[in-house]
Amino acid sequence: MRFPYRIHLSKPHMGEWERQFVDEAFSENWISTVGRHLNELEREFSEYSGLPSVAIASGTAGIHLGLKLLGVKEGDEVVSPTLTFAGGCNPILYERATPVFVDSDRASWNIDPALLTDLLERRAACGRLPRAVIVAHLFGQCADMDPIMEVCGRFEVPVLEDAAEALGSSYRGRIPGTIGEVGVYSLNGNKIITGSTGGLLVAHDEKRVTKARFWATQARDPGGDYLHSELGYNYRMSNIVAAIARGQFRVLETRVRERRGVAFRYQDAFSELPGIELMPQAEYGVHTNWLSCFLIDEERFGISRDRLISVLNDANVEARPVWRPMHLQKLYLGAEVVGGAVAEDLNRRGICLPSSSSLTEGEQTFVIDRIREAYSYVTGANRT
Ligand SMILES: Cc1ncc(COP(=O)(O)O)c(C=O)c1O
Repeated sequence: MRFPYRIHLSKPHMGEWERQFVDEAFSENWISTVGRHLNELEREFSEYSGLPSVAIASGTAGIHLGLKLLGVKEGDEVVSPTLTFAGGCNPILYERATPVFVDSDRASWNIDPALLTDLLERRAACGRLPRAVIVAHLFGQCADMDPIMEVCGRFEVPVLEDAAEALGSSYRGRIPGTIGEVGVYSLNGNKIITGSTGGLLVAHDEKRVTKARFWATQARDPGGDYLHSELGYNYRMSNIVAAIARGQFRVLETRVRERRGVAFRYQDAFSELPGIELMPQAEYGVHTNWLSCFLIDEERFGISRDRLISVLNDANVEARPVWRPMHLQKLYLGAEVVGGAVAEDLNRRGICLPSSSSLTEGEQTFVIDRIREAYSYVTGANRT
């Protein structure tokens, strides 16, 4: 049975504010990387996060600027979770630095604080500490920041929080991205709120944000002359993107509620099926469930994760695996990895189901029914 149209994994969910702000940008003719909506977005985001912010072209650009702000240079080591999206760690290579990957913990699926502690202690013992640690908050859930900040603080290694997937979540009442030295958010089209693309960078030190804005606008020195004494980038957000993002930002809380609603409806629906389990929801914060991720235990569920993705695809439903660990990517073969078996297991058994905040009850029921059917088909077949 096929759904009449594709049910996507995570699609944009627009309202009226976005259109109004874009119309304003058109009528004011600020179709550029300067304009009122850019300034307003930064002001509103700073109010939300409590930190100075700069609006940039993408989350990836933000990670790149963040690493530069933390002084990462050729030959430095930078720690990153191995379970992450490429945009969250490729900027390490932009700066010709060396990634060291760390496995996930099972409780949050994010970087394992115990393995990170062990790594930093070993590095400190030989006097070769990494220049920075990237901590990603995956699928809408924060990493366990207290032990991470403790060990990084102890060895004075700065933390760059990759909160690309975690806008709207919290860690012990705090906003992810505001706990480490620098925080980065993505407004990519598949995220909980979007500008079609775009990103935001925050830092505790205002000078860092000013510097990031300078680098993001081609590092043009003050004055009318085209003087560039440093290497810059074309990383600034467009005023049109900012207009869309401002509209989206107004409904962030509602979108969080809706995404959580989708995840828990799946969880309820699967409560009687063995071998399909919602990603853990750590007690220390609010998990937005940006993506509804489940682990499939093939022995108990009856079919593998890959087969389930293929069954759903045949029914016109988009489902995807959990991120492929970086230490398994061709680009990073040979990179040092601490552990790795947990990330490999999450990648092998993890499935992301349609999670849009606009997912209708009818669409979700269709997805649930296909999964129930897949389970009863195999278990029925096994009985005969
Ligand atoms: C964990 C993570 N880091 C970084 C990025 C990069 O963000 P962008 O797509 O806005 O460049 C993404 C997603 O897109 C992500 O999921």
